[in-house]
Amino acid sequence: MYKIRLESINKFYGKEPNIVHALKDVTLGIREGEFLAIMGRSGSGKSTLLKVLGGLTGIHSGRYYYENIELKNNERQMSLYRNRHIGFIVQNYALLFDRTVFENVELPLRYAGISKRKREEKVLEILEQVGMEELAERFPGELSGGECQRVAIARAIVNNPDIILADEPTGALDEETEKVIMNIFAKLNEKGKTVVIVTHDYHIASQLNRIIYLKNGEIVER
Ligand SMILES: Nc1ncnc2c1ncn2[C@@H]1O[C@H](COP(=O)(O)OP(=O)(O)OP(=O)(O)O)[C@@H](O)[C@H]1O
Ligand SMILES: [Mg+2]
Repeated sequence: MYKIRLESINKFYGKEPNIVHALKDVTLGIREGEFLAIMGRSGSGKSTLLKVLGGLTGIHSGRYYYENIELKNNERQMSLYRNRHIGFIVQNYALLFDRTVFENVELPLRYAGISKRKREEKVLEILEQVGMEELAERFPGELSGGECQRVAIARAIVNNPDIILADEPTGALDEETEKVIMNIFAKLNEKGKTVVIVTHDYHIASQLNRIIYLKNGEIVER
């Protein structure tokens, strides 16, 4: 069974006469437990595809199935779906700089209405998982890029999503830190999570189960 299936997705940006056809008839099936890389040139549509997979952006035509159930293209349904199933890691971490590491990771649990005691337990467990428990009281401005990335991952997985989507999670990191981050994703995948990573780096992509290539908004063979 497919975890997610996209059928003939088209996505445009902008208005006439400056329309960008960012995804062209994209059909893609992602199986449960897959560890998938999305590659392609700058501007080929990788981030757009990831956002569509995460239900973060609307589409103009095509169909989106989660476990064989079609999700309609409406904001209410998509936001419920995102909260329940998707952990999304954006390229620039998007952490709140006036909140501590602990508070950043705690936020999704607050939105989900989890009790204070449960939140504390869960946040500490997840911070330990990414090796950040000792820095829980720091602010993001006091962290390195790799540490920020780990906090962003912790925040994305604290709600226990079954699908983890990451946009160039190792883009700005040195080789050692890159290994630490890829190890976190590999462990999540081993636990049965479906993981999709956008990357420019063939060395990273080659560690995953499958690579798909985008070119000018289309999935191509390589
Ligand atoms: N909000 C937007 N408004 C208009 N055009 C956009 C918008 N976001 C993306 N695009 C355009 O859509 C196309 C695909 O963009 P996308 O961000 O998906 O590319 P990408 O493959 O992630 O590139 P990169 O590797 O540089 O991150 C590009 O031509 C881009 O300029
Ligand atoms: Mg991008």
